[in-house]
Amino acid sequence: MSVLIAADFDAADRAAWWSALSAALPGERLVSSVAEAADDAIDIALVANPPAGALQDLGSLRLIQSLWAGVDKLLADPTVPLGVPLARMVDPAMNAAMAETALWAVLGLQRHFFDYAASQRTSQWKPLPQRRADDVTVAVLGLGQMGRAAAQRLVQHGCCVQGWSTRPCTVDGVQSHAGDAAWPDVLARAQIVVNLLPLTPATRGRLNAAAFAQMPRGASLVNLARGAQVVEADLLAALDSGHLHRAVLDVFSTEPLPVSHPFWSHPRVTVLPHVAAQTDPRSAAAVVAANVAALRRGLPLEHLVDRVRGY
Ligand code: NAP
Ligand code: GLV
Repeated sequence: MSVLIAADFDAADRAAWWSALSAALPGERLVSSVAEAADDAIDIALVANPPAGALQDLGSLRLIQSLWAGVDKLLADPTVPLGVPLARMVDPAMNAAMAETALWAVLGLQRHFFDYAASQRTSQWKPLPQRRADDVTVAVLGLGQMGRAAAQRLVQHGCCVQGWSTRPCTVDGVQSHAGDAAWPDVLARAQIVVNLLPLTPATRGRLNAAAFAQMPRGASLVNLARGAQVVEADLLAALDSGHLHRAVLDVFSTEPLPVSHPFWSHPRVTVLPHVAAQTDPRSAAAVVAANVAALRRGLPLEHLVDRVRGY
């Protein structure tokens, strides 16, 4: 049996992943294409943005292991076989990276550091009132792996943290809310909204004009999840009207963000190139190896995606 690695890695990523996976899966035959597997059947696919159709016609497939946390693209690909268990990447190192990015964004907004960077570009010496962490209420949308880690880091920092998820849950120090009925209140209380929801039919386009209108004047948006959850034209309108103060965006409807996109030059938008939490092969390979070992031994697989929920 062979393990197919289907990914859009660049040369550096490819080298790092092959080295980490070869070390973590010493008994497995790793191949990068069906042709390379030749007569050997492929029963496991490790995928990261695989080319369309990469998993088609693999009749022996028993596990699809995503190297990414979000599986929205896989679920949207009709050629990904429905009957095969799909596991996503859950790695504490990745959660920690996301918590760092959320803290950086919230701290930058709380203390106006993004505004000072903008002032520097126009040689303006312009001190602003200093805010304490506990002056700021942050709403973290999604309290899963990423959202919990981010919310906990923001609690440690001293912010007042509200959380929002589908099902009620408890996170130390976080005032958590569940379900659509709580959505308007969660937004209305937040000076900063940090989006960490998976992309599903229920979350696509959810951060739109109506949502921005619920947020208090002067609030800011931090989107670290998926671009398609934000209606970009509505966000630009809310920024331009002055209702929203700033947006810190890691993800976009189209990636890479087209050079002509207004976000690049907007004075109150900060753009990151989808790097809030990159999978680190050094720790992620062990997560993959645990699921491969479970499959080989007939034990339950971890981090399986609920295809109906979409995450
Ligand atoms: P997760 O563990 O599956 O958590 C998802 C959370 O969202 C859960 O709390 C879930 O609530 C909540 N949720 C889902 N749909 C909802 C809805 N309609 N209304 C309210 N709450 C809802 O996912 P994760 O590992 O934290 O990752 C979240 C997303 O982050 C990924 O899907 C991916 O898109 C993104 N991500 C981005 C990067 C980056 O570098 N920018 C890196 C990694 C991940 P329940 O559990 O109560 O249903
Ligand atoms: C990155 O965006 C991921 O989903 O892992």
